[in-house]
Amino acid sequence: MTKLLVIHGPNLDLLGKRENDIYGTATIEDINAEISRVAAKEGADCEFYQSNHEGDIVDKIRDCKAEGILINPAAYTHTSVAIRDAVSAKDIPVVEVHLSNIYAREEFRHKSLVAPVVTGQISGFGRDSYCLGLKGLMSIIENKKDASK
Ligand code: DQA
Repeated sequence: MTKLLVIHGPNLDLLGKRENDIYGTATIEDINAEISRVAAKEGADCEFYQSNHEGDIVDKIRDCKAEGILINPAAYTHTSVAIRDAVSAKDIPVVEVHLSNIYAREEFRHKSLVAPVVTGQISGFGRDSYCLGLKGLMSIIENKKDASK
């Protein structure tokens, strides 16, 4: 089993109760259950982590022993040099996901500070963004393993 870490940033604990027109009606529990189902099919085992605190997310990334990270940094996407630097320091694939299409929203959301240091980004597929991101992450990890054989 490939170990993955799934990180949800600030206010994503309110999913299903927050701006449903933008983020949909699925709760974080619904989304995590769906990720777990897809992960099991892909041969992965996920640890889930949600925090509203930038430093806690930085520590979680630094301490992570997983083979890959799926992260929705939420509002910190647009502001956090610290999360970007923690991702950049990590020598494992990291995939950034967003429920909404951040490039089709307010201008301040168009810039992701994390995007230049992640392996790839998925944005705008609603709750499906997570499973699409997970599949991409698994494919990168498997390709890496094959290449080192
Ligand atoms: C988000 C987009 C961010 O701009 C916003 O601050 C969020 C959620 C998304 O998943 O679409 O909290 O990351």
